Amino acid sequence: MTPDEKKQQVAKAALEYVEPDMIIGIGTGSTANHFIDALAAIKHTIEGTVASSQASADRLKSHHIPVLDLNGVREIDIYFDGADEATKYLHLVKGGGGALTREKIVAAVSKKFVCVADDSKLVDVLGAFPLPIEVIPMARSYVAREVVKLGGKPIWRENFVTDNGNHILDVHNLNIAEPVKLEQQLNQIAGVVTNGLFAQRPADILMLGTDSGIQIIE
Ligand code: A5P
Repeated sequence: MTPDEKKQQVAKAALEYVEPDMIIGIGTGSTANHFIDALAAIKHTIEGTVASSQASADRLKSHHIPVLDLNGVREIDIYFDGADEATKYLHLVKGGGGALTREKIVAAVSKKFVCVADDSKLVDVLGAFPLPIEVIPMARSYVAREVVKLGGKPIWRENFVTDNGNHILDVHNLNIAEPVKLEQQLNQIAGVVTNGLFAQRPADILMLGTDSGIQIIE
């Protein structure tokens, strides 16, 4: 199976967690796109969705799936999203698509977070995938210098602006042994909107598409 076939397989399997009248958080990326396409088949059973990016909102609307404003929603029942890296402790690196801040907000408001990914995303230690940090544009160089002090090598994702009008630094060379601590440290740097570590609020369930079916870690 190709990685994309595994993503499609796991995205379809994740529908088993969808119950009638739920409000569903929707992630961003190719796995989330497969989930949106699968969700279209049962769109009449749900109350609506909250999207973590303009791209996902557009895809949901193309299927005529209702997209709700988060400010009008008290709680999201369940959130489905991919990841760039995941550990068996359900800590994640996200933000390869640049949607990390809205993804973190949707995760925070969600009762349950189901991470769906192909099995190549499962790692022992986070950090081989460059950690994205969303920064206020005027603070980009300052944040980069502070990240260097923490041992990282930040690279500006040029020609990319987030849905929130900000910039992304992709931080290489991090060996993330303590993800909760690093997530907090990075978020304390002035000018950081948030970083792509999902450790303080990890996933609740990790579903992996593999050659031999779906692997679930919870
Ligand atoms: C988007 O900003 C990311 O957090 C994605 O969830 C992540 O990049 C996974 O993407 P794929 O599903 O395309 O692998």
